[in-house]
Amino acid sequence: MSGSHERGGVPVADEAALIAAARAAAADAYAPYSRFPVGAAVLLRDGRIMRGVNVENASYGLSLCAETVAIAVAAAAGRMADIVAIAVAGGTGEEPLTPCGRCRQVIAEAASVGGSEVAVICATPDGGTIARFSSSSLLPHAFGAAALG
Ligand code: THU
Repeated sequence: MSGSHERGGVPVADEAALIAAARAAAADAYAPYSRFPVGAAVLLRDGRIMRGVNVENASYGLSLCAETVAIAVAAAAGRMADIVAIAVAGGTGEEPLTPCGRCRQVIAEAASVGGSEVAVICATPDGGTIARFSSSSLLPHAFGAAALG
């Protein structure tokens, strides 16, 4: 059901908490090489929130994005299938940060295992500008488990 108390199927209060969690997580990002901190947070069906940060490496290409880390944290708690939304916060402040291509594929996997779209909520570092997407709109025609037969 959608209505004035929901945005993209996410209750407004939950969305606010999720954005706040992603913004707070960004302060803990491990981004000494890019100096581009990113925070993410996933919302589970029961309202629980789990955070992620980008985790960079001296071998630059090994760096992990905040969204992928947040989803991995949920997976490690056995909750991958319970993810209903993910918020990400970071960037220069002008436009909300949207997930990279690899993260879109990782989000699509969460949507697939959960059996429904994941709401993707993108925020500037100060939370002043928000952009909302569905997982499938960010990665149409995604490769997925069905293709493996
Ligand atoms: N990054 C994320 O964590 N999420 C995104 O959606 C885009 C990029 C990270 C990767 C790297 O640590 C830094 O931001 C600069 O690309």
